[in-house]
Amino acid sequence: MMLKILGISGSPRKGATLFALEQALEEAKRIPGVETEIWSVRGKKINYCVHCDACVRDNVMCIIKDDLQELESKILEADAILIGSPVYDMNVSAQLQAVFNRLRPIYLVHPGKLQNKVGAALSTGGTRHGGQEIVNMNILNFYLMHEMLAFGGLGGCYNGGTVWSRDKKAQGVIDDEVGLDGVKRLGLGLAEAAIAAKYGREKWLEMKKDYEKDFMIEKSPLRDH
Ligand SMILES: Cc1cc2nc3c(=O)[nH]c(=O)nc-3n(C[C@H](O)[C@H](O)[C@H](O)COP(=O)(O)O)c2cc1C
Repeated sequence: MMLKILGISGSPRKGATLFALEQALEEAKRIPGVETEIWSVRGKKINYCVHCDACVRDNVMCIIKDDLQELESKILEADAILIGSPVYDMNVSAQLQAVFNRLRPIYLVHPGKLQNKVGAALSTGGTRHGGQEIVNMNILNFYLMHEMLAFGGLGGCYNGGTVWSRDKKAQGVIDDEVGLDGVKRLGLGLAEAAIAAKYGREKWLEMKKDYEKDFMIEKSPLRDH
């Protein structure tokens, strides 16, 4: 089976986050058939969502044309996603938050496309307990909003990779033995979870055809706005 894992770096630098993502995805690639790619916000022009609601009104992806469009297609094609962010003021980076906001219309334009795909999170912070778990939670919330399955890690790595970089970019990740170990196991575990989900999704989509004869499965849920 071929399996595509997309890594997304929310850091504007070639630093700790990008390096940690690379390490995680190297582990994932130990499983035959796993392909990986990394897309970074670094050097990209990503505007803010301005709540124009064109996406909701016209059922289209974000109408602001910038570097976000190249990410949209990668996300839709991926079997699993691993998002990493530096901790900025105990939250994800502003660049990553802008990406999340701008991807809002996926559920409208491509309903079901991300459903039951697997996502995982990692974060790097300059301080040992600088908000890494909060950042991971916010990344996992993005997956939950898009009807994806959140994967937290293997053994002692609960809601994603947490690295104490001491603001030392890649070297900081290497020096954080515990953090790097968690990141590597996160990558391997994500690949395993993604394979299980991919088989499950394929099987379910087949089975669902029969179920749909008996049950009315609504295309879109009722929403309170
Ligand atoms: C604006 C800003 C805010 C930051 N806030 C935090 C923070 O709240 N907690 C923390 O641990 N580190 C914080 N840091 C440090 C970075 O999270 C840390 O150096 C991170 O590993 C950088 O990742 P990078 O090398 O991939 O860019 C902050 C850095 C910046 C620039």
